[in-house]
Amino acid sequence: MAANKKLLILPGDGIGPEVMREVRRVIDWMDRRRMVTFDVSEDFVGGASIDAKGTPIADNTLQAAKDADAILFGSVGGPKWDKLGFDMRPEIAILRLRKELDLFANLRPAIVFDPLVDASTLKADVIKGLDLMIVRESTGGIYFGEPRGVETMANGEKRGFDTETYTTGEIQRVARVGFELARKRQNKLCSVEKANVMQSGLFWRQTVAALGAAEYPDVALSHMYADNCAMQLVRNPRQFDVIVTSNIFGDLLSDLASMLTGSLGMLPSATLGAIQPSGKRHALYEPIHGSAPDIAGKGVANPLAQILSFAMLLRYSFGMDEDAALIEKACVNVLGSGLRTADIMGPATARVGTGVMGESILRELEKLAA
Ligand code: IPM
Ligand code: MG
Repeated sequence: MAANKKLLILPGDGIGPEVMREVRRVIDWMDRRRMVTFDVSEDFVGGASIDAKGTPIADNTLQAAKDADAILFGSVGGPKWDKLGFDMRPEIAILRLRKELDLFANLRPAIVFDPLVDASTLKADVIKGLDLMIVRESTGGIYFGEPRGVETMANGEKRGFDTETYTTGEIQRVARVGFELARKRQNKLCSVEKANVMQSGLFWRQTVAALGAAEYPDVALSHMYADNCAMQLVRNPRQFDVIVTSNIFGDLLSDLASMLTGSLGMLPSATLGAIQPSGKRHALYEPIHGSAPDIAGKGVANPLAQILSFAMLLRYSFGMDEDAALIEKACVNVLGSGLRTADIMGPATARVGTGVMGESILRELEKLAA
């Protein structure tokens, strides 16, 4: 039995708590089977934290996140908190977690599971077998760049502004993550920016090219403008293996890529920091789907992205590849049996709610582990 692993669970808002409940069942199952014992703690984040503690993320929650071996995050935000000031938005919570734990590499896979090829709005022959990884820089760029603000100009008119900035070091460290991942996959990395319009984009391109030539000559590196990349992703997504890009372009392109797979409700993500001298690496895992307030509390949300985020956590934070694979296989098998939540319904499938989907995953895990 492995030593206790410190896991911080932050369910957040909207469908976060209900899909997280299904992950807790998977964790309990693993505990019962003595595969691993987790030291699990749970806390408020986002709107739930605003309600309970008066802030999107409390200092002691941030500290607990720093102390944890891994963080499993749900989702934040909702109409209830839309009218709060800019600095009180629930979204501040995830941005602060990324920034303060220096979680700079956001890994967003887009994988088309065979049983779901018909759930995509794209034709099956375009997306079948798709397995692409977007590496989004997540602590820099226009999300955090200074100066930013709204000011009144001499003529009385107002001006709003944000700043896109990237240093050599920031580009190199995220590009390295992309190169390393590519080496374990199809050895192809596409770096995405707007080098034709932005100074910081040209600098990004030159920096990645130099790093590739110096340290990763074996990886096939290409460069693409972000607008072209958006077009190529719907035209022929399988041309890509790993994409590395800035915070803002990664935000846009990962939403786009996720819909190639049919549903936002299927996709997990990992956000990783640097490996520290102690060997520890901060890491946060979250589904891509967000809080989906329109369906929250109805028991219809798809728990698979949250469960698959937990599988990613096992793989990347704890090296538990086999257990991760077991959970992923259970998800694919349950989909293969025709059970579907509302978001991924297809021909000849049976519609189930969040709880039944979770239970089916548990039953499948039992079978696979028997
Ligand atoms: C994401 C989200 C966040 C982002 C929001 C909630 C701040 O859209 O993780 O992609 O823009 O990074
Ligand atoms: Mg986004």
